[in-house]
Amino acid sequence: MWILCRCPPWIRNSLLFALVLVVILALIGWDRLLHDHGPGEFGNPDDRFKYGSIGAEHDAGIPYWIFYVLPRVFPEKLPKPGIGYASFGMVWEEGRELPMGFTKRRIGFDRVGNNCATCHVASYRSQHAETPTLALTGPNHTLDLEAFFHFLIDCAKDPRFNADTLMTEIDLAANLDFIDRLIYRHLIIPLTRKKLLEREAQFAWIYRHDFPEWGRGRDDAMNLPKYFLINWPMDNTFGPTDFASIWNLKKYQAGTRLNFSGDTHDVYSVVIDSTLGVMGAAPKDKAEFQGHIDWLVSYLSNKPAPKYPFALDTDAAARGKSVFATHCADCHASTRTGTVMPLAEIGTDRGRMDTWGKQEAIAGNKAVSDLGIERKGLVEAPLTGYLVQFLDGIWLRAPYLHNGSVPSLADLLKPPAQRPQVFWRGYDLYDPLRVGFVTQGREAELAGTRYDTAQRGNGNQGHEFGTALPETDKAALLEYLKTL
Ligand code: HEC
Ligand code: HEC
Repeated sequence: MWILCRCPPWIRNSLLFALVLVVILALIGWDRLLHDHGPGEFGNPDDRFKYGSIGAEHDAGIPYWIFYVLPRVFPEKLPKPGIGYASFGMVWEEGRELPMGFTKRRIGFDRVGNNCATCHVASYRSQHAETPTLALTGPNHTLDLEAFFHFLIDCAKDPRFNADTLMTEIDLAANLDFIDRLIYRHLIIPLTRKKLLEREAQFAWIYRHDFPEWGRGRDDAMNLPKYFLINWPMDNTFGPTDFASIWNLKKYQAGTRLNFSGDTHDVYSVVIDSTLGVMGAAPKDKAEFQGHIDWLVSYLSNKPAPKYPFALDTDAAARGKSVFATHCADCHASTRTGTVMPLAEIGTDRGRMDTWGKQEAIAGNKAVSDLGIERKGLVEAPLTGYLVQFLDGIWLRAPYLHNGSVPSLADLLKPPAQRPQVFWRGYDLYDPLRVGFVTQGREAELAGTRYDTAQRGNGNQGHEFGTALPETDKAALLEYLKTL
C-alpha cells in the first residue's frame, strides 16, 4: 500500500480504479464460469434417482444451451429426425425438459450431466398405442448409447459447430444476457468443441468396422473404463453387455461378486466405480461425493424388483416351481448364485470376459486409491467366466444372457441352434407369451437396432439348461419365472 500512498493522486486513483475493475471482472468470471450452485434438493428419492446430479457436470458435462440446440442444428445426424434425443431411445417423461438420467446443474452456467438413470431405467408397453411404463433401476434396453456418442463427436467435427451458427439457434430459445452471450461465443462453444473432438481418439475402437455396433441396450462395459479411466493402450477386445438391472442390491452378500464377469467385490465398490465413471474425473467435493455414494447404496439395496404386471396362471407357476427346483435352483437359488461359473461350463460368448483382466484391475484399484477413496474394489485376478445370475425381476431383463443375445425366456429354453439368429433390440412392446420384448416385425425394426448373433461379441450359444425339457414343463417354468 505504501507505494500507492507516495504516488501522485491521479496515479493512485487510476491504480485503485484498475484494482476495483480486476476484482469486479474476477467476481463476474467466477459467478458466470465457476460458481457451483450445488446438486439441488429432491423431496422424492425416485426423482433424485431420475434427475439428481451426482457431480458429473463438472468435467463430463455439456453446456445446457449447446445440448439444447444440437438436434436442431444437426437433425440429419440423428438416428431419426424430428424427435430429437428421443431417437436415441432415451426415456423421456412428459413435461420434462431433459431425458431421464440427464441432470442440470449450474456451475457458472447451466450444464447437463448424466446419472445412473441414463442406463438403469427400464420401460415397457402392453400395446403399441400406450405410454410406456417405467421401472426405475431396470435395464434401459432402448438406449443406443453408441449412436449418442457418435452424434456428439460428429456434430463437433462438422464446420457448422461454430459460434455463429450455434448462437443464432440459441438466441431463438434462450434469453441470455450480454455477458453470458459473450462467454458462450468466445469460450464455451469453442471449448466444448475442442473437448468433444478430443474424445474421438479415445473412442477409436467404436469406430472399427470389424466390430459390430453395441446397438440398443448395451455398452462395452469394461473397455470404457479401460480406455477412459486407466488410459490403457487400446487392444483388440470387444465385449458389449446389457445395461444391468440394479434393483434389490442387498441380495449381494459376502462371498458373491458383481458385474457379469464377477470382476468386482461388492456393491459399495461398484457404486463408487460407476459414479467415477459417469463423472469422468476426480470428485471436486469429497463430502458431496460420499453423500451420493451412501445414498445410492441405500436406495439401490432397498429398491425391490418390479412385480410381473400381466395375467399369471398360478397353477402352472406352481408346477413350474418344481421344474425350477430340479433344473435351475442348484445355480440360481443356492450359494452358487452370485459366484462365477467357468466359461468352459457355461459356454456363452467369451468377448466380455476377454475385455478385462488382472493387470487392468490392479491399475483400476490404484487409480481409485490414488484419489484417496477406500473400497474393496476390483478383483485382482484373471476373469474365468460369467456370474450365475440372481433372477429377481427376470421378466423385465430381456434380451437375455450377459450380451443380450437371446430375445426371450422361451428362446433361452431352446437349444442354441433354434434360438433366433437375427432380431431387433430396443422396441418396448412386451410379449407375455415368450416373456421378453417383441423383436421381429415392422414396428420392432423401426424402433430397434439389428442384432446378428454371428457377429463378434454377439454369440448366443451356451446355457443349455432346460433346453431338453418337455414342452409342458417349459411352459410351466416360464410361468414360474414371471413370478421372480
Ligand atoms: C453408460 C451406462 C451406465 C451408466 C450411466 C451406469 N451404468 Fe451401471 N452398468 C452399466 C452396464 C453396461 C453394466 C453391466 C456391466 C457388466 O458388463 O458387467 C452395469 C452394471 C452395474 C452394476 C452391477 C449390477 C450387478 O448386479 O452385477 C451396478 C451395481 C451398477 N451398474 C450401478 C450403477 C450406478 C450406481 C450408476 C450411477 C452412479 C451406474 N451404474 C451408471 C451401465 C451403466
Ligand atoms: C450350472 C449352473 C446353471 C444352471 C443349472 C442354470 N443356469 Fe441360468 N445362468 C447360469 C449362468 C452362469 C448364467 C450367466 C450366463 C451369461 O450371461 O453368460 C445364467 C444366466 C441365466 C439367465 C439370464 C440372466 C440375464 O440377466 O440375462 C436366465 C434367464 C437363466 N440363467 C435361467 C435359468 C433357468 C430357467 C435354468 C433352469 C432351466 C437355469 N438358468 C439353469 C448358470 C446356470
